[in-house]
Amino acid sequence: MSELPDWQIEIDQGVVRWQADVDAADSLESLRSLEVRALGKAGEIPALMKRIPQIPPQDRKSFGQAVNALQGTVAAAIEARRLVLVEGLIDAELNDATFDAAVGAVPLKLGHPHPLSTVQADIEAIFTSMGFHVLDYPEIESEFDNFEALNIPGWHPAREMQDTFWLESGHLLRTHTSSGQVRAMHQFKAPFRAIFPGKVFRYEATDASHEHTFHQVEGLMIDRKVTVGHLLDSMRTLLSAILQREVEIRLRPGYFPFVEPGFELDIRCQVCAGEGCSACKRRGWLELLPCGLVHPNVLRAGGLDPDEWQGWAFGLGLSRLVMMRYGVPDVRLLMGGDLRFLSQF
Ligand code: PHE
Repeated sequence: MSELPDWQIEIDQGVVRWQADVDAADSLESLRSLEVRALGKAGEIPALMKRIPQIPPQDRKSFGQAVNALQGTVAAAIEARRLVLVEGLIDAELNDATFDAAVGAVPLKLGHPHPLSTVQADIEAIFTSMGFHVLDYPEIESEFDNFEALNIPGWHPAREMQDTFWLESGHLLRTHTSSGQVRAMHQFKAPFRAIFPGKVFRYEATDASHEHTFHQVEGLMIDRKVTVGHLLDSMRTLLSAILQREVEIRLRPGYFPFVEPGFELDIRCQVCAGEGCSACKRRGWLELLPCGLVHPNVLRAGGLDPDEWQGWAFGLGLSRLVMMRYGVPDVRLLMGGDLRFLSQF
C-alpha cells in the first residue's frame, strides 16, 4: 500500500476543516464572509492551484482534480448551511410571540368610478330599458357633422354660439354631442331611438358653471308623426326616471338651428333649492336640457324624408346633472382631478 502524498493529506484535512467552519457559521453574514474566504476570487481554495509547480509532475492531474473536488464539496456545504440558516430565521419569525399570522392585512385602497361615470351609467341603464341604442361617436369631428348637417352653414351666426377648438387639419373638437345626429340617421335609417353620451369641448373662459371640457348626453328619436306632445311627455318620463323624484321644470322657447320648434328645459336648482347660488348663477333655476323637434333640413341631411319621418332631440348637460345630484357647487371640480374632491364619492 503506497503512502498518500502530503498534498492529498492536506486536501483531505481541508475538507474536514472547511466543513467545521461552515457548521460554525451562525448567521447569513458570517456564512457569506466564509464563502468569500474559501471560494472567492482571492479565496484560499482557488489559491491552492498556484502550488501546481511544486507538485511532482505525475501527480499534477490528480492534484488539480482533488482541488476541484474540494471546491465543490465546500460550495455544497455552504449552500446546505445557508438553507438551514434561512429556515431558522423563518421559524424564529413564526415563533415570535409578537407575530400574529391571523392579524388582518392593511386594507387595500380600491379606486371607484368617477361621479360622471356613475351618473352616465345610470342614464344608459334607463334608456337601454326603453329600447334606446347607446352610441359612441368621435370627439374629433368634421365641420359637416358638427355644423353643416345641423343646419348651421358657415355664414350662420349660430356658429358663434359655440366657440370652437379648430384643429390644423380643418377638423374640430365636437362642441356638442349633436354632431352624432346625422351619423345616427345614416347608420340606423328610421325609425330608431338612441342616446350618445360623451365629452364635448368649447373654447371659452371657465367659471363655476363653465368648463372647456364637459359632458353631454344627446337623445334622438326618429319615428312617424312625432309632435311636441311626444317630446314633452318623453322628457317628463325620462327626467323623473333619471332624477328619481318629482322635479320642478319649466320650458322656455330656445333657439337652436337644428330643432324647430326649440325649447330650453330648466330645472329647479338642487344645490340651493331655488335660493340662488353660484351653480345656478343665483337664478334658482338651472338650464338642464335644450330640446326640440328635429329640423327638416337635418332629417334631409340624414337621408330621411321629412314628410314621412320626424323626431325629437335633446342635449342633456351631464355635468350639470352630476352637480345637481351631488350638490357640487363648481363644474371645474369635475375634471380637476383633485383626489380630495373625488374621494368623497
Ligand atoms: N347641441 C345643443 C348644445 O349643445 C343642445 C341641443 C341638443 C339642443 C339637441 C336641441 C336639441 O347647445
